[in-house]
Amino acid sequence: MLVLLLVCGYALLQFISSPPSVSTGEAASVKEAPNPPKEEREEKKAKTPAKQLAKGPPLPAPAESCDDLRVLVDHEHTLPYRYVPQDLVSLDAAGVPVLNGGTLLRSEAAGQLQLLMAAAASDGEDLIIASSYRSYADQQASHDKWANFYGDPNAGGMSALPGHSQHQLGTAVDFTNSAAEYQIWQPFGRTSGSAWLEKNAGKYGYVLAYPEGLEAETGYQWEPWHYRYIGPENVERLQDSGMSLQKFLTEEGVRPRC
Ligand code: DAL
Ligand code: ZN
Repeated sequence: MLVLLLVCGYALLQFISSPPSVSTGEAASVKEAPNPPKEEREEKKAKTPAKQLAKGPPLPAPAESCDDLRVLVDHEHTLPYRYVPQDLVSLDAAGVPVLNGGTLLRSEAAGQLQLLMAAAASDGEDLIIASSYRSYADQQASHDKWANFYGDPNAGGMSALPGHSQHQLGTAVDFTNSAAEYQIWQPFGRTSGSAWLEKNAGKYGYVLAYPEGLEAETGYQWEPWHYRYIGPENVERLQDSGMSLQKFLTEEGVRPRC
C-alpha cells in the first residue's frame, strides 16, 4: 500500500511540473508567420500608396537624382543651376538631322530620337531638330531673347525661366521642318510632320509636353514643336492613365533633391 501511494504521488508531481507539449511543426509555424499586432497592420496599410495607375506594376522608387526620366519641372518646380546631365551626346554624331551644330541630348533619348527620325524620314517627313539640351545659362539667354522679342517678361508664355525648363534635363527637343520654314512657331502644328509626331512619337518614348487646350494646366502656350523624352515604358503608363504629361508627372513624377 505504501509503495502504491509513493508511486501515485511521484506520478502526480511529474504531471504538475511539466509544461504542455507543443509539436516542433506548430512552434516553427508560429515563429515564421506571426500575426502582426493590429497597430502594425494599420501602419502597413497607411504606407500603401493611395492610388496606383490602373495597369502595370508599381512604379520604381524615385531616384534621388535629376537624371530620373520622370522629374517634374514646371513653373513651380525648379532644377538647380548646377544640374548638368552627365551622359550628353552630340545629336550630329548620332546621325540626327539638326539645324545647328553642338546640339546635345542625353544618350538614351538621343538613341531613341535617331530611330524616330529614321522612321519619320522613311514616311517622307523631313523633321529636323532646332534645339535640345540647354544649360541653366543657355536658358537664361534664350528666355531673355524671347522676352525681348515679345516685349513681355513672361516671353509670351513660350519660354521657361532658367531652372524651370525641361531643356535643362537634356531630354527635351524642339522639332521643325521645311513646311514650317525651319521656325519654332505654331504653324509647325499644321504640318504633316507635326501630325506624324503626334501619332508616332510615343513609340520612341517622346511626348508632346504643352498641348493645345491645356495652357491653363501647363502654364505655357501650345508648343507643337516641344517634345519630352520619358521612355517608352513611361509613355505606356501615361497612355494607360489617360492623364496629360503635366498631371502624370504631378501625381507620379519625381521631385528629387538634386
Ligand atoms: N519653351 C519651353 C517652355 C521652355 O523654354 O522650356
Ligand atoms: Zn522646347
